[in-house]
Amino acid sequence: MTYGLEEFCNDCRSAIDPKTHEADLDAIQGHLEHLMENDAFVNEHCGPHAEVGIHTIFRDPETDFMVLAHINAKGRTSPPHDHGASWAVYAQAVEFTDMTEFDRKDDGSKEGYAELEVSRKYRLERPKAGHFGPHKVHAIHFPDNGRFVRVTGTDLSRLETLRYNMDEKSVTAVPPNDRGEISGTASV
Ligand SMILES: [Fe+2]
Repeated sequence: MTYGLEEFCNDCRSAIDPKTHEADLDAIQGHLEHLMENDAFVNEHCGPHAEVGIHTIFRDPETDFMVLAHINAKGRTSPPHDHGASWAVYAQAVEFTDMTEFDRKDDGSKEGYAELEVSRKYRLERPKAGHFGPHKVHAIHFPDNGRFVRVTGTDLSRLETLRYNMDEKSVTAVPPNDRGEISGTASV
């Protein structure tokens, strides 16, 4: 039987604690890689006809996780940032995404100051997936026409997040917005 969106969402729900909303991200990553082997699913949501933008494929009424298709016309390199208290699992559909993870080296006691050190770099190509846990600092880079599926613990645009500048050794809080949907690519 083909492993499709319904099977993935059931497995994803099983990997999230209904009370604490803690997620087994290794398990979700494995399930997402399985889903990305489904040509019909990938073509439907990330194929040539998919419109540029961020599309919500599914939002779970029980645990609030979301499955999103990110269809990008232009490439982008994000600054180092986190997703606040939530998590994200990414799987590539078209082109690639380079993922960089950082460790924070300062103790956070100086307002607006942050020192980061690169801890890990890897490339996602279909069907490979990767994940960032709560408060994990990371950056992504993808070329023109990069397309990927992202699963998040909730609507990240409703959370306060942190954005870093490595050259300036600075960190800025990005307040939540109330647009009810992830907007643009600022929060990828
Ligand atoms: Fe991100």
